[in-house]
Amino acid sequence: MVICITNHSHLDFTQLQHEVNPMYVCLCRGITDTQIRKAVQSGKSEFRQLKQSLEVGAQCGKCVRMTMEIIAAELDKMEQEQPVLYYQVA
Ligand code: FES
Repeated sequence: MVICITNHSHLDFTQLQHEVNPMYVCLCRGITDTQIRKAVQSGKSEFRQLKQSLEVGAQCGKCVRMTMEIIAAELDKMEQEQPVLYYQVA
C-alpha cells in the first residue's frame, strides 16, 4: 500500500535543504555550497570566476575538487530545468 501525502505548498525541499543547512566547502574562506550554487546561477560557471569573486580555493586548495563538483551539478540542474525549445522531427 502506497500512501501519498501532499501539502500543495510548491516548495522545493531539495533547494530548501541547501539553504537551511549549508555545507561549508571552503573552510579557509568560510564559503558554503549555497554561496557557490548562487554564484553559478548568476552566471559564474567557471572555477576561476568563483575564485575571483568568492575567493574559494584561494588558500590551501583542498576545496577545489568539491567546488568543481558543485559547479558541475548546478550546471546540470540548470540545464535540466530549461524548457525544451525545439522538437525532434522524425
Ligand atoms: S579549504 Fe578552500 S582554500 Fe582551503
